[in-house]
Amino acid sequence: MDSGIRHRATLCRAEVGAVTSNRVVIASPPADLSAAACAAQAQAHCPYSNYAVGAAIRTASGAIYAGCNVENASYPEGTCAEAGAIAAMVLDGEREIVEVVVVTRGPTPGTPCGGCRQRLREFTGPDAVIYATTVDGVELAVTMADLLPASFGPEFLAH
Ligand code: THU
Repeated sequence: MDSGIRHRATLCRAEVGAVTSNRVVIASPPADLSAAACAAQAQAHCPYSNYAVGAAIRTASGAIYAGCNVENASYPEGTCAEAGAIAAMVLDGEREIVEVVVVTRGPTPGTPCGGCRQRLREFTGPDAVIYATTVDGVELAVTMADLLPASFGPEFLAH
């Protein structure tokens, strides 16, 4: 079946910028993390939305973990790409995310959903960088603190 996913080699960027606080900028994700996210996206099980998502996480140790969305005929049971990548990371004994690439299709990068922002927040510091990219060439970057402001995290329970 044609997934509709085009290869990243066809991409061109309008601009490359640095990540700064309190705003989203156009910025290139690291090539290795991007490749891992794209490979994961190609494995997505998304027959209901036809919206394939790939996510790749780099941890503090330098390891990379990837995931794709896995939909279900019982729609609410589907899982997001970020959740799959986080599960793989945790299974491997890792807990500290430093950067994330999420890849979607279409003209607008699919930034992590609300639930996935909280899932990522569990394992990131405020300066972790989340890149939202599309196979059509748009690349954004945002820090975790900007993606989920005034967030609740594990430190609230550490007493
Ligand atoms: N999806 C993700 O995998 N990650 C997100 O952060 C947003 C949404 C998936 C869930 C569903 O399979 C499809 O995208 C459409 O919502």
